[in-house]
Amino acid sequence: MEKTFVMIKPDGVKRKLVGEVLKRIEAKGLSIEKISMTSPDRRILVEHYREHEGKSFYNDLIEFVSSGRVVLLQVGGEGSIKIMRSLIGDTDPVCASPGTIRGDFANSKTENIVHASDSESSATRELKLWFGDD
Ligand code: PPS
Repeated sequence: MEKTFVMIKPDGVKRKLVGEVLKRIEAKGLSIEKISMTSPDRRILVEHYREHEGKSFYNDLIEFVSSGRVVLLQVGGEGSIKIMRSLIGDTDPVCASPGTIRGDFANSKTENIVHASDSESSATRELKLWFGDD
């Protein structure tokens, strides 16, 4: 079964939206296979966001995600990578449709509640980075 990586970012935790995000994932028929909470340090975030290094928003993004606790998830289910991307909605809150997590709760491109892997190779890399080989 396909697996993907999801992170509820510090704004999602602070705004008490963890239950809401988990509810939407499960209501869609996907499974929460692993879950943990951590305060990520800069080192792991630099690796996680390496494809964005050098972009104008990169430093703010690392700073923001390292600013508080996050929830790490391994989500499984047929088509889970694409399904999670459609559940979270567009990065830009102006474009995120109502009914998506970002469309309903985010109003910033940086503080947008949740991250989900955008491809099979990202999912494999990110699951290994955050959960190891177990
Ligand atoms: S892009 O522009 O295609 O690289 O953007 P995207 O892949 O959708 O998301 C990039 C991640 O960076 C965060 N972020 C921003 N993206 C675009 N523009 C601005 N200004 C910006 N600021 C922060 C965005 O939330 C994505 O984070 P993750 O955690 O990967 O969802």
